[in-house]
Amino acid sequence: MKNIILNNELSVPQIGLGTYDLKADSIKAAMDIGYRLIDTAWQYGNETEVGKAVKESGVGRENVFITTKLWTDDIRSGKIREAFEKSLKNLQTDYLDLYLIHWPAKGFEKAWEVMTELYSERKIRAIGVSNFNQHHFEELSKISDIVPVLNQIESHPCFQNKDVIGYCRKNNIAVQAWCPLGGSFSHLVDNDIFKPIAAKHKKTPAQIILRWHLQREVMIIPRSSKKERLKTNIDLFDFNLDNNDMDIINKLDTGYRMGSDPDNFNF
Ligand SMILES: NC(=O)c1ccc[n+]([C@@H]2O[C@H](COP(=O)([O-])OP(=O)(O)OC[C@H]3O[C@@H](n4cnc5c(N)ncnc54)[C@H](OP(=O)(O)O)[C@@H]3O)[C@@H](O)[C@H]2O)c1
Repeated sequence: MKNIILNNELSVPQIGLGTYDLKADSIKAAMDIGYRLIDTAWQYGNETEVGKAVKESGVGRENVFITTKLWTDDIRSGKIREAFEKSLKNLQTDYLDLYLIHWPAKGFEKAWEVMTELYSERKIRAIGVSNFNQHHFEELSKISDIVPVLNQIESHPCFQNKDVIGYCRKNNIAVQAWCPLGGSFSHLVDNDIFKPIAAKHKKTPAQIILRWHLQREVMIIPRSSKKERLKTNIDLFDFNLDNNDMDIINKLDTGYRMGSDPDNFNF
């Protein structure tokens, strides 16, 4: 597993487990396979399942990197500490590895201030954001010198999000792709375009897509409820896509999102 060094010097796995809709059994199975970064959110309603899986895995809390996210209702109401404490309790832990602003909802600047306090108090090892565009970062920089360590955004071959990735790179903000396989409804992995590349490398189409992310230096959090897929989704380090493979995938960008647009969302 390759690690990425965040802008606060924290070292984190480039691949993690997306847990949307997953229960403790699947999360524990992933940890048995070797996943050490777990991505959840208060809004997924499964922080307690993550806490249970981490406890039962026997891996040790200190060996797991847990990300959770502050939901928009809490940002709007300004109840940041309360939301943070609720997540800690759900996760059965006394610190978070990474806390993200889930969406740039009205009041996110105030939320960031409180998150920076929690960071100074060493209750969170790193703070970041999700679904931020360039102007959200610019608004944040007016009130705080602390640059988010990471931006978790929608990114997959059909919606690559190159402008936001370019901005993050320039500003030393790591990028983590949600929906890296195109999510549950796109059937992106079944697209014929990946088949010859997969055959050439003796890998699955999903592995080709995930490897493409890694070669763009993008972190990934693919989600699966199936053991075999959990195994192959993390087995990405014994082959390389060549420039031609990368070009074929780079050309698939249609600009069509699977999820919400951060600039046009009901906050
Ligand atoms: N920050 C945000 O706003 C935000 C938004 C959305 C998601 N997320 C996070 O990002 C994570 C990943 O995104 P996602 O769950 O939407 O989508 P995803 O990981 O791109 O795709 C998940 C879908 O792909 C299938 N799949 C997984 N591995 C596969 C393989 N090897 N071959 C074929 N199909 C495969 C899964 O089905 P099976 O379970 O049947 O394998 C599931 O239907 C989420 O779980 C969540 O943690 C964050």
